[in-house]
Amino acid sequence: MRILVVGSGGREHALCWAIAASPLCDELHCAPGNPGIAQVAACVDVAADDTAGIVAFARARKIDFVVVGPEAPLVAGLVDRLAEAGVPAFGPSMAAARLEGSKGFMKDFCARHGIPTAAYRRFSDARAARDYARAQGAPLVVKADGLAAGKGVVVAATLDEALAAIDEAMLAGKFGKAGAELVIEEFLEGEEASFFALCDGAHALPFGSAQDHKRVGDGDTGPNTGGMGAYSPTKLVDAGMEARIMAEIVRPTLVGMAKEGAPFKGVLFAGLMIGKDGPKLIEFNVRFGDPECQTLMLRLKSDLLPALIASQQGELARFDLRWHADTALCVVMAAQGYPDAPRKGTEIKGLAEAAAAPGAAIFHAGTKAADGKLLADGGRVLSVCARGATAKEAQARAYAAVAKVDWPGGFCRRDIGWRVV
Ligand code: AMP
Ligand code: GLY
Repeated sequence: MRILVVGSGGREHALCWAIAASPLCDELHCAPGNPGIAQVAACVDVAADDTAGIVAFARARKIDFVVVGPEAPLVAGLVDRLAEAGVPAFGPSMAAARLEGSKGFMKDFCARHGIPTAAYRRFSDARAARDYARAQGAPLVVKADGLAAGKGVVVAATLDEALAAIDEAMLAGKFGKAGAELVIEEFLEGEEASFFALCDGAHALPFGSAQDHKRVGDGDTGPNTGGMGAYSPTKLVDAGMEARIMAEIVRPTLVGMAKEGAPFKGVLFAGLMIGKDGPKLIEFNVRFGDPECQTLMLRLKSDLLPALIASQQGELARFDLRWHADTALCVVMAAQGYPDAPRKGTEIKGLAEAAAAPGAAIFHAGTKAADGKLLADGGRVLSVCARGATAKEAQARAYAAVAKVDWPGGFCRRDIGWRVV
């Protein structure tokens, strides 16, 4: 088969790495890819959000199956446009991608279908939002309705912070159109976990759990990021908790989306707060997490590609997946200055040595090749991962690989996995 992966991050490198290993894959392309992905796929100079360009490439190269990595093209309807062109693709339709594309839609959907989530109100008027925040009091969570690259959420410990967040989004336009509407919701207590399920519109197959580290600094301090590291699985999601998440959140979502005429296919990524009363949904994403995906791909023993195809074809019911019993852990190396102002263009060396460390795998996220050198070209630049028999071993191996990376322009958290190790 001829496969096209869409995206250019560490998640897409891990997906390409897994797909390239499939006996079903004869030809692998990635749009636009990165220098790490170029080691396992042919990179195509078409941006992930260039819908017309991707459809044209898929038709011209007779691509049999497309795997879409990031959320923006899904929310913009890439899977629908590919289907119209006769190219099957892994991922939700535009209508189903609203679960991530609009927080207001997601909250109203949960209310309609009895899915446990934080109490909330939607606002399109700043004064009404401020009045509501004053009436509720802190702590409160203020969220831009639309996609804001993981930066549209403010967990406000005080009323002043909540009011400032409302003004920044609705009056100052900090998130552009994505912040014209807000969701204000109850602060949930508990521990966070990421849960993944492959879906085919009617059936869902658990695809593992992980724990992300969203803050930039050690000890979960500093601003939120796209994710500074992850490990999988997390003990928070044992067999009993998995059964509850499937029964209380994932299956009702599949049934509800099908009833509403937007059956969900692709990977459903539930961001959960596990508290005293069980799992509550913080947010849905309609694609793999980054860096969670890197850890899932290291643990997956089965061939990934047939599972993705079964999701698109509605044939997951009889599917079974096998996993390594190990823990996988990923340390994100970011450019100095991330998340506010990452410095681009610094040189990275030592990746071959790092990749040769026991149990290690290196995925590229924001890198660029120039004049025979490898340069940092983004905020999150490398995903340095390892598998180990225990979380402790996976952590030690990942940091042993990090130590081989020669990149003075980068930094990483030193405590990924601290909750389990
Ligand atoms: P999101 O972008 O929706 O994942 O939110 C970013 C982060 O904000 C989450 O990972 C949580 O740590 C936090 N968060 C979001 N909603 C809530 C909530 N209702 N209660 C507590 N924390 C929240
Ligand atoms: N790591 C969180 C996300 O991909 O949204």
